[in-house]
Amino acid sequence: MRRAQLVFLATFAATGALAGPLASRNNGGKSAASTPWPSIPDPEAYTKPSEPVRVYPISVATGLTSEHGNAKYKLDSVGDMVTLDYGCDQAGIPFFDVETLGSTYAQIEIKYTESYNGLLVNQSDGPFPFANGLSSEFRVETLNITQTGELTSFFVQGSQRWQSIKLIHGSGVTMKTAGFISTVDQAPIASKPGYFASSNQTMTDIWQLGPRTQQLACFPPGSQVSTWEVDSEKGAYIRGQKPATTIKGANAKSYTLSFEAMIDYGGVGWRVDTEVDNIYAEGPYLVLTSNYPEGSFVNYNTSLVPRNTLVLGRGWSLQNQTTLTGYKLDTFEVPFDVTEKEWHNIETNSPGDGTYTVRLDGKQIAQFNLTAYNIGARPPYFPPCAYYSFAFAPWQDQAAWYRNVNVTLASGQNYYSNPMTSEDVKIEYGVATNSDYVCSDAGKRDRFSWLGDRQISARSIEAVGEWEYVWGPAVQAFDHQISSGEIPSNMLFSELDLLGTQGRTESLDLILVDWENKFVSVLYYYWQKTGNDTFIQSYWPQMTAMMSYTISSSIDPVTGFGTNGASGANLYSTCLMIDSLEQMIEMGQALGYNKSRTWNETGGFFAMPGKDYAVQDMSAIERTKIGTPEQRETFWSKLPGREEPGGYVDPPAGANQFDLLGGGVKISMNVAGELLWGLGERGDGQTAANLLMRSFAPQVERNVNYTGAYWEFLSADGTYPGNDLETAQSHYWGGSPTAFMTEYVLGVRPTTPGFVTFEVKPLSDWSDTWVQGRVPTPHGLIYTAWGYDSAGKIHMEVTAPKGTTGTISPPFSGSFSVNGKSHQAGTVTVKGGQGKVTIAQD
Ligand SMILES: *[C@@H]1O[C@H](CO)[C@@H](O)[C@H](O)[C@H]1NC(C)=O
Ligand SMILES: *[C@@H]1O[C@H](CO)[C@@H](O)[C@H](O)[C@H]1NC(C)=O
Ligand SMILES: *[C@@H]1O[C@H](CO)[C@@H](O)[C@H](O)[C@H]1NC(C)=O
Ligand SMILES: *[C@@H]1O[C@H](CO)[C@@H](O)[C@H](O)[C@H]1NC(C)=O
Ligand SMILES: *[C@@H]1O[C@H](CO)[C@@H](O)[C@H](O)[C@H]1NC(C)=O
Ligand SMILES: *[C@@H]1O[C@H](CO)[C@@H](O)[C@H](O)[C@H]1NC(C)=O
Ligand SMILES: *[C@@H]1O[C@H](CO)[C@@H](O)[C@H](O)[C@H]1NC(C)=O
Ligand SMILES: *[C@@H]1O[C@H](CO)[C@@H](O)[C@H](O)[C@H]1NC(C)=O
Ligand SMILES: *[C@@H]1O[C@H](CO)[C@@H](O)[C@H](O)[C@H]1NC(C)=O
Ligand SMILES: *[C@@H]1O[C@H](CO)[C@@H](O)[C@H](O)[C@H]1NC(C)=O
Ligand SMILES: *[C@@H]1O[C@H](CO)[C@@H](O)[C@H](O)[C@H]1NC(C)=O
Repeated sequence: MRRAQLVFLATFAATGALAGPLASRNNGGKSAASTPWPSIPDPEAYTKPSEPVRVYPISVATGLTSEHGNAKYKLDSVGDMVTLDYGCDQAGIPFFDVETLGSTYAQIEIKYTESYNGLLVNQSDGPFPFANGLSSEFRVETLNITQTGELTSFFVQGSQRWQSIKLIHGSGVTMKTAGFISTVDQAPIASKPGYFASSNQTMTDIWQLGPRTQQLACFPPGSQVSTWEVDSEKGAYIRGQKPATTIKGANAKSYTLSFEAMIDYGGVGWRVDTEVDNIYAEGPYLVLTSNYPEGSFVNYNTSLVPRNTLVLGRGWSLQNQTTLTGYKLDTFEVPFDVTEKEWHNIETNSPGDGTYTVRLDGKQIAQFNLTAYNIGARPPYFPPCAYYSFAFAPWQDQAAWYRNVNVTLASGQNYYSNPMTSEDVKIEYGVATNSDYVCSDAGKRDRFSWLGDRQISARSIEAVGEWEYVWGPAVQAFDHQISSGEIPSNMLFSELDLLGTQGRTESLDLILVDWENKFVSVLYYYWQKTGNDTFIQSYWPQMTAMMSYTISSSIDPVTGFGTNGASGANLYSTCLMIDSLEQMIEMGQALGYNKSRTWNETGGFFAMPGKDYAVQDMSAIERTKIGTPEQRETFWSKLPGREEPGGYVDPPAGANQFDLLGGGVKISMNVAGELLWGLGERGDGQTAANLLMRSFAPQVERNVNYTGAYWEFLSADGTYPGNDLETAQSHYWGGSPTAFMTEYVLGVRPTTPGFVTFEVKPLSDWSDTWVQGRVPTPHGLIYTAWGYDSAGKIHMEVTAPKGTTGTISPPFSGSFSVNGKSHQAGTVTVKGGQGKVTIAQD
């Protein structure tokens, strides 16, 4: 199979075009007075400012309210607060321009959230303890104000529209302003090469969710800075965040972990025997609090983290965050003062039988049997993890120094030793500044970089024309590939060393192996859009290694169908596999995939034998052209049976994988995105428009939950973010409408790599009065529009850049005029650099 694919891709490569720089428009933006649409604009000029951009709220209101106001930042006495609304999601380092301070010092508690409702609950819409995403894990933070002038917080807040600031200690605080020093691209959407607009404002708005989600979730190298600071004497200074871990000290059995810690404020935290950057965390989570001296944050939660106490937790955190469960198992009061700003020696003994003993400065402060709590163990549906290790970081609003870490085996042998005084520890512990382009799962939330999500989002990025956010994160993925050929299903943002890469990728083995096939699809479409042969060529050995890994680890040995590595045979993984292999139709036939094994004659649908059908398979079957057109038609006719107000979903309890935790069906935007793609392939604009209205129009409604970006889930009734506050609301896994409008509504798609030849084939049943747009290619922009005149006749225009040739298929039958010459039929050729081609239906 590998060899065959090599031939296939080589054939494409030979016909591929060399990519060139974007050229400017070649018809000079002439007046479009005679057409149903306004003239197609050129990209707006934009110069990236040399200084970081500051963003400010559009509303400041006194108290806690979603009402807009124009209030002063005036926090006279404890309890006073202001609510800030930025109008849409923003990201960056929070800053506060303090004008007056009426007491020797003051403390403010700040909340950040995408949904307004987050401000109404104690934890806001966090915490996000899935990974250290080089940002804040917590969505509530406390700052000490000791002087007037600018106060900035340390951590990046990844994505939020709403913010509240509450005075919790001191008095007489006023601020000139507050906001974020942006850590994401702030270029206006209109300045991007790609563009789309429609007579239907909702469609225009939906297209624009794509580029904004990209700005919030995709970052250039060096833009997300390390969350640890390292000193050559005092070791690592770590503020409250997800405890970060190392492969080097992993998998010790029967050992004692010891380190020196100096609490700067609040406490110190660590974990032992916990998964290394896996999808679960079950090792004990330990937080040792200080004696909370005078000046400590007054809002320390003394029920969760009382003073002079060792708190024992398990799971992701000491708190719950919807699907990221955390447990507080126990507290051990320390019978003496745990002082701040002094070095302490902390030892944790793990004999390997589930029991633990903790000593502080040589005195035992806790002993427990983790298993005996009988809670928080790794759920059986997660495959086993290859690496367990220790991890360091304090809890929320705490900070501490860590140094001289040792792991000593029961035999007395030293297993790991690190003074923690060199900058290298950031790379070892996976908390270093990003050295690659990174596309996060979402602006906020778990902030791993998930590989499979990009099958959908990369297409929208291409429609906008910022290729580096497709090839850049692809390079990151290849950088994390290991010798088996495996590319991890998700990645830290951090630069890693070889050992860290190997261990972290192995740690995820057998999870979502079929996402490698989605990754092939990312590479394939990128290459189609850009003709970047160099890229494909330079990664070819890695691509074939990945395919051989995928084939060897995800084909069910009994049935020969695809799996995701751990799922068992399923149709979807099989389609992904076929999709990612060359000559997929031929191979699919050889394996019998278009025969009766998946076609259920009585039911009239495709499914694994004995199984019911699933909506994402309708799209996958359409894209891989499995079966006959008649069978696919019958399969699609099942779609209305899966309709909810918010979109399409398989029944709960059965195939619906998004109701694992109960609480009702959620509409997955990833599945919605795939459906839209399949509908585009099928040429069913009417159902596609209906799907856009159900699943995506709620995301452009300017209510309190609007973020200007794509959401992750939608409620089944189509009204609010589906997973409540956990829902990422700047999430790209479902961002297909941006690509859909460009590729199927404008109808512009390459027919050879790099748009040397392309087609303009709009959906014939799209009902907007007009649509228009710009489509980025390596040769420059294609400008195109089509729409109905007052007599109901369709007009079109296409202008192509030099070096390209397009074939236009007008979206109607019958004759038309081309550049005024009437009675034409069939397709029309548009030659790049030779002006605008206009078509008018006769
Ligand atoms: C929020 O915190 C307060 C103070 O700790 C507590 O009384 C209240 O029950 C908390 N609310 C929820 C929903 O946990
Ligand atoms: C936009 O298009 C959708 C789907 O065709 C339609 O339901 C909606 O009414 C249109 N809105 C406007 C303002 O034309
Ligand atoms: C806040 O500042 C005051 C005054 O400098 C200081 O006494 C106190 O320790 C500080 N608190 C924290 C948590 O840093
Ligand atoms: C304090 O912790 C308790 C759990 O111990 C939790 O129920 C409560 O919501 C927390 N309060 C705040 C203000 O976070
Ligand atoms: C988190 O939720 C689980 C149930 O899903 C519960 O058992 C556990 O006690 C909760 N943890 C906390 C810290 O409240
Ligand atoms: C720890 O608890 C588990 C479950 O109660 C028990 O089976 C085990 O024997 C205990 N281990 C020790 C060393 O006491
Ligand atoms: C612990 O580690 C430090 C630094 O790596 C080392 O200097 C020290 O000797 C070690 N101490 C013990 C008891 O192993
Ligand atoms: C092709 O891909 C490489 C990354 O391998 C990138 O550096 C280069 O800019 C790309 N070329 C074009 C024309 O996009
Ligand atoms: C399988 O596909 C081939 C080629 O498209 C077609 O000739 C054949 O009829 C298909 N078989 C079935 C059972 O659909
Ligand atoms: C075909 O689908 C029907 C439901 O429509 C189901 O009862 C039957 O078991 C399916 N047949 C097979 C072979 O899966
Ligand atoms: C906003 O989202 C929340 C869930 O996060 C939901 O409860 C609320 O109803 C939504 N509000 C509106 C106006 O849709």
